Amino acid sequence: MKIIAIHSSPRPKNLSHTAVMLSALREHLTTRRPEWDYEEVALWGLDINVCDGNGRCFRRDDCVFEDEAETLIQRMLEADGVILASPNYCANVNSTMMKFVERTTRLSHRRLLAGKGALALSTSASPFESSHAADYLRRLLGSYGASVVDACNIGSPIVVYDYGDTNHGVALRAHVDSFIEAVEAPQDHIPDGTFGIDIRASLRDHPEFARRLFRSDDRYFATQDREQQEAQKHEASE
Ligand SMILES: Cc1cc2nc3c(=O)[nH]c(=O)nc-3n(C[C@H](O)[C@H](O)[C@H](O)COP(=O)(O)O)c2cc1C
Repeated sequence: MKIIAIHSSPRPKNLSHTAVMLSALREHLTTRRPEWDYEEVALWGLDINVCDGNGRCFRRDDCVFEDEAETLIQRMLEADGVILASPNYCANVNSTMMKFVERTTRLSHRRLLAGKGALALSTSASPFESSHAADYLRRLLGSYGASVVDACNIGSPIVVYDYGDTNHGVALRAHVDSFIEAVEAPQDHIPDGTFGIDIRASLRDHPEFARRLFRSDDRYFATQDREQQEAQKHEASE
């Protein structure tokens, strides 16, 4: 299996709490699944243009910019499991992550990561910080259609000094275990929605509007047609 972990700390690897957390993750993952291919990508310093809202990705599977965001999206599509990790800045993901996230909008619109396992992580200065940033990334990965497991925030002082057998170390390893399960059996971890919008219900209740909004996306309509056929079969058999 191919795993890609993308993180957005702007700090050098030896100082970054997020990178330290990912080292602990990597150690556990490669112990449990030594045959898996794991790669880590730092977003900081990559050539990624800010989305200018031109809307091309609403209609097509590409972008006006040909930069490293596009290469990275391609690598996510080729992976079996995707991990997103961000430092918590002002109770959310940092702008380095957000700049990349905006460029991935088509993954959400077309649910292009369906069938892949996913995990969302964050680090924060406070070990008591709630996991807003990681929760956001979890919902984002769900909107991509990925089989995403529970999000995990790790308080950075603990990441750096004591991630071994502490609660945080145990929590991180438990999340990695769930992630392994989701990669191996994505059908058991289907996400429940996308940012609170039930796209299937929208298609059902407002078909004309939804058709215009997602006009290039046949996959939604295939799902909708299949569901309608199943409902009709069910009604007929009653
Ligand atoms: C601009 C900025 C805003 C931050 N906001 C928060 C915050 O709201 N809550 C928190 O617990 N930590 C906050 N932090 C601390 C970082 O989340 C924490 O140190 C993180 O682990 C840094 O990750 P890194 O070392 O991988 O870059 C902030 C740090 C910076 C630089």
